[in-house]
Amino acid sequence: MDTTALSKFSYGLYVVGVKTESGLGGCIIDAAGQVAMGDNPVVTLACNKKSYTNECIKATGEFTLSVLPANVDPFVVGNFGLQSGREVDKWANVPHTIKDGLPLLDNAVAYLRLRVVNSLEFATHTLFVCELTDAENGANPAKPLIYADYQAAMKEAASETLQKSKESGAAPAHRVQWRCLICDYIYDGETPFEDLPDSWQCPLCGEGKSAFAKEEVE
Ligand SMILES: Cc1cc2nc3c(=O)[nH]c(=O)nc-3n(C[C@H](O)[C@H](O)[C@H](O)COP(=O)(O)O)c2cc1C
Repeated sequence: MDTTALSKFSYGLYVVGVKTESGLGGCIIDAAGQVAMGDNPVVTLACNKKSYTNECIKATGEFTLSVLPANVDPFVVGNFGLQSGREVDKWANVPHTIKDGLPLLDNAVAYLRLRVVNSLEFATHTLFVCELTDAENGANPAKPLIYADYQAAMKEAASETLQKSKESGAAPAHRVQWRCLICDYIYDGETPFEDLPDSWQCPLCGEGKSAFAKEEVE
């Protein structure tokens, strides 16, 4: 099996916006989709169980999706997708607007607001099944960013721009971290990465420990 084929199994790319105990959080998601339309649209979102965003969605039962444009600043993807809201106030780093208590990324293509009506737990992810409570088009006339295009052309820039902003002090810098070179997942478990068993697999793409590289973030 060649799991790199999954990088061509394409969706859009979205910034999830959630309320946290003390402010705002969220992350990048590609695994979202529409499963019913008409008068009662239903949207699903697959969210990693270890992420702070998952915890916040379970606590509050609602979130926003900002649909990213094809011409998005790669920093936005790095900011929301390659670090955790447990350590960084991600929304402080990007222009945004608060609508009814939840954040929307300025200059997105469209916005959805969703309320969780059901959920399913899988080994690594929770599948949230949601009803649409609000939707609007954004001011940005660009086409939506496609996940496969991100994989092919933006992945490195997302990581580099985040790194540069941390070095310049624009965003808080932290510790050593382990990044999956296949899907960019950053390990954030309590067990030191080195102590994980050899059978351990990336919760996002299923690759083994050898697919991870250590990064000095500070
Ligand atoms: C391109 C890209 C796509 C991603 N897609 C998903 C996804 O569909 N579901 C998910 O749970 N995490 C996804 N992630 C990972 C989260 O955005 C990432 O783990 C984030 O750091 C979680 O932050 P949090 O702890 O603040 O919630 C993706 C990351 C990137 C860079």
